[in-house]
Amino acid sequence: MTAERAGRARSLIDVHQLSQEDILWLVETARSFEEVSRRAVKKVPALRGRTVVNLFYEASTRTRMSFELAAKRLSADVLNFAVGTSSVSKGESLKDTVLTLQAMGVDAVVVRHPMSGAPELIDGWIDASVINAGDGIHAHPTQALLDVYSLLQRMDSLEGKRIAVVGDILHSRVARSGIQAFIRLGAEVVLVAPPTLMPPSLPWRVETRYRLDDVLGECDVIYLLRLQLERQKQGLIPSLKEYARVYQLNAERLARAGEGTLVMHPGPINRGVEIAAEVADGPRSIILGQVANGVAVRMAVLFMLLGGREAEDAGNE
Ligand code: CP
Repeated sequence: MTAERAGRARSLIDVHQLSQEDILWLVETARSFEEVSRRAVKKVPALRGRTVVNLFYEASTRTRMSFELAAKRLSADVLNFAVGTSSVSKGESLKDTVLTLQAMGVDAVVVRHPMSGAPELIDGWIDASVINAGDGIHAHPTQALLDVYSLLQRMDSLEGKRIAVVGDILHSRVARSGIQAFIRLGAEVVLVAPPTLMPPSLPWRVETRYRLDDVLGECDVIYLLRLQLERQKQGLIPSLKEYARVYQLNAERLARAGEGTLVMHPGPINRGVEIAAEVADGPRSIILGQVANGVAVRMAVLFMLLGGREAEDAGNE
């Protein structure tokens, strides 16, 4: 998808759809929406009359709430679909569920699903826009976009910046989308993980390391991933204590990183596992900034997909 086409795209399934120009267009658009979030009345009429449904088959705090806020700040009507109290609990299939929502006239379905590929399937079943809010271990494109946005708040460009992505790369949809976005904007990416949590083959131009200590002092950004605690039961790490010994970013390790090194994490964090509390809460952490930026970035994505950009272009003609 080129910037020219981005405004006419129907759905956002993953970052690979987006050119560098598209990503930068979304960043610029999010910047203009960030100002809306600072107003006393945090609303613009851009998507008045449109309906967005949040269809979350998996738990979420940040993504679900920021999509809801984003849609409301654009004046869209918002439906929140709770799987536990819906007819999914009576056995209704994913296809019948989304066809039902479409029959009610929704314009966009924001979907989180434990099955990789679910958003793409839905995109083939309905005419409404589909936005992937995280599917299995596959992709989480709006997380990648808000991460790029958060970095571009603090640096002019990602060109030549060195970003270490640390942790469970194998099972991380955040890593898959983030790596693509960082590379597309010219960053150098180094993956740091135990061999059991590193994918056996890597489709991206990245470096790999097996110890966090090996990249300290050479990175502009250390991007930590949440260690899913069940990985220990699966025998993929010896113990949480041993994982923390080698991979936890603590104050001592951060002191060995470059002075300006930024610390990122998509959340939710495991304090005392992949990140020490003093680092999470410290001045180099931009974790809460990432959360805040999620609203403006998701406003930009909704605006792009629901015709906002075409309307803007028409208005400029
Ligand atoms: N980063 C992220 O996706 O967080 P949630 O699971 O809370 O949405």
